[in-house]
Amino acid sequence: MHITNTTAAVVTGGASGLGAATARALAAKGAKVAIFDLQRDKGEALAAEIGGIFCEVNVTSDDSVDAGFAKAREAHGQESVLVCCAGTGNAVKTASRSKEDGSIKHFPLQAFDWLIQINLVGTFRCVAKSAAGMLTLDPGEHNERGAIVMTASLFGRLCLQHRARVGVVRHVEQALRPADRMRTATGDLARQRHGGLVRVVRQPRDEAVVQRLRRIEFARGIDQLA
Ligand SMILES: NC(=O)c1ccc[n+]([C@@H]2O[C@H](COP(=O)([O-])OP(=O)(O)OC[C@H]3O[C@@H](n4cnc5c(N)ncnc54)[C@H](O)[C@@H]3O)[C@@H](O)[C@H]2O)c1
Repeated sequence: MHITNTTAAVVTGGASGLGAATARALAAKGAKVAIFDLQRDKGEALAAEIGGIFCEVNVTSDDSVDAGFAKAREAHGQESVLVCCAGTGNAVKTASRSKEDGSIKHFPLQAFDWLIQINLVGTFRCVAKSAAGMLTLDPGEHNERGAIVMTASLFGRLCLQHRARVGVVRHVEQALRPADRMRTATGDLARQRHGGLVRVVRQPRDEAVVQRLRRIEFARGIDQLA
């Protein structure tokens, strides 16, 4: 799929970090970019810089995501590119004992749920709604209707001692793993004879980095790599 000046793209989490870099890169290729983010100031500034639009969207809310897609599609037409970078993280031990008084506490489950709602459910919400919209597009030269990219983390492959966050990330990674489910979804799209498929790109696995992390973990006496 080629990015041209007729390509409409949506980047979630596009106000900063990976999302902002992605928005800039897409705009540099001519794409019309809609930035979905909670950070209005940063998002509007970047949208002005790249000639795109900002949509104040909370990926945990159905209504907010619907309104974001409606605004983006009204301005740019149906997106054929979705890049999901909206996300966050936290680092709390699964269970720990206080050095002061020996009391034991565990990972606050509200924080776990919060993370899952943003990184996992929020990502899939945007993917599902965008894929549904892409079904209205005509197939392109490779019979594709669009591209959907989800970001994951190498830490989804690594268990750090006591860190539930890794479990969280792993949950996220496996649920999106990556794209096995989406491949199923794309297969469904193809099987339903919608005449094309939505491509989902998985972050490539960097074997060298995984091996390096594996050695570090072995050195710590932990053998919990996936
Ligand atoms: N930066 C890295 O090296 C790296 C590596 C692997 C994975 N990741 C993951 O990729 C994602 C993006 O990373 P980043 O470094 O660009 O982070 P970042 O914090 O710079 O950007 C994340 C963006 O998502 C937005 N966001 C957060 N919650 C949102 C919500 N509910 N609705 C809409 N927008 C929301 C934030 O406002 C922010 O602009 C994160 O989930 C991160 O954990 C990052």
